[in-house]
Amino acid sequence: MSKELFDKIVNHVKVQGFVYSGSEIYGGLANSWDYGPLGVEMKNNIKKAWWKKFVSESKYNVGLDSSIILNPKVWEASGHVATFSDPLIDCKYCKSRYRADKLIEEYNPEIKASTMSNSELEKFISTNIPCPKCNHKEYTTIRNFQLMFKTSIGVVEDQKSLAYLRPETAQGIFINFKNVQRSSRKKIPFGIGQIGKAFRNEITPGNFIFRTREFEQMELEFFCKPGTDLSWYDYWKNYCMQFLYDLHIQKDNLKFIEYEKTELAHYAKATCDILYNFPFSDTFEELWGIAARTDYDLSRHQEYSGENMQYLDPETNEKYTPYVIEPSVGVDRLMLALLCDAYDEEIINEKDTRIVMHLHPFIAPYSVAIFPLSKALSNKANAIYDMLCKHFSCDYDEAGSIGKRYRREDAIGTPYCITVDFDTENDESVTIRDRDTMQQQRIKITDLISFLNDKIKL
Ligand code: GAP
Repeated sequence: MSKELFDKIVNHVKVQGFVYSGSEIYGGLANSWDYGPLGVEMKNNIKKAWWKKFVSESKYNVGLDSSIILNPKVWEASGHVATFSDPLIDCKYCKSRYRADKLIEEYNPEIKASTMSNSELEKFISTNIPCPKCNHKEYTTIRNFQLMFKTSIGVVEDQKSLAYLRPETAQGIFINFKNVQRSSRKKIPFGIGQIGKAFRNEITPGNFIFRTREFEQMELEFFCKPGTDLSWYDYWKNYCMQFLYDLHIQKDNLKFIEYEKTELAHYAKATCDILYNFPFSDTFEELWGIAARTDYDLSRHQEYSGENMQYLDPETNEKYTPYVIEPSVGVDRLMLALLCDAYDEEIINEKDTRIVMHLHPFIAPYSVAIFPLSKALSNKANAIYDMLCKHFSCDYDEAGSIGKRYRREDAIGTPYCITVDFDTENDESVTIRDRDTMQQQRIKITDLISFLNDKIKL
């Protein structure tokens, strides 16, 4: 894959109305994006797919929707106030600012800069790395830059009213562990899933919707008995990868990276990422993080809140603080992977190429498009649209040749197109065309809903 291909994909999804630049009429706002008519449908489908597999269809898990602004003590307990920052270093000569660890990793991808102390980072940079902009090797010392967005509650802006926009949805789950366990009468092992916005004042956002300051996460916190955690860790690792295969992401574009013990947070027993072969990069990049976090989060909240976070096993009368497995993925990042994976410039013959997005039918913005062969048939086509739109997200197009209409739907990933023709009135049937094979078949209008339901399911 290549940067050139990535630029093409980004341009395509902007033109088609998946994603727009944020605040465009005011000259934009760096690295902010708005989701257009197709993007919002696709994003909703991704969230629906995750919720279906991680909440509705899992006998272990339930859902939650916690607040974005939490009591600021939550972020002291979680460790974010003390440690959720990036090491910044400036070139003294041209004043360019860099994230020290990234500067080193870009200079030499073999080096694990995330495990280095600030003084080690400083020393390495000033000895080895000329400024990528001006080539000088004179740097400031490192300052830690807090990634949480600050805001204030109420009318007076002082230290007492300080609050943060959540940088992850996870803490909203931990602080509700007891509530959910009590009200749903769940027994360990069980999980709590949540989808929602998160905010990070990233120093180096970029690569379109890959890394932004405002994004959405889909997180599961799975609570289990200490000692069983590593087998649940394997269970959820496989479950997440299978979810991506089920969404038809090409297997060759996905892989696990398991982190070494020396690279883990002090409380973590194991951590891995699922990486995707994003075309903007020469190496695979993080898509999904999965961590075995021990009892760190619940213990910290117990310590800071004074609330007992322990679980009493009703069968053995044993009391313990549950261990946690956390699979966490960004909606926007998964959407980018799905868009990159689906984009195809298919050569039909020497003279003809079509752009087709091979999106999974469950994920595609429109499940089906309805075309009258001629405007004279629009009443019948509209009646079919009215019937299908109660079940599926539908597009309707009566402009241009049928061939052009097919191509327009291919370019946005619509898996099925229905053409109403002059025989439809007589045989109550339509032609349905498959996006990927381009094969057409005749089908009774009364069979359309069950046909589509069968094809679109996940
Ligand atoms: N609670 C754990 C947690 O937040 P993380 O690795 O910082 O872990 C999890 O984030 C996932 O959220 C990432 O794997 C990525 O998919 C997504 N993500 C994180 N930061 C992001 C950003 N700035 N923009 C878009 N997605 C982001």
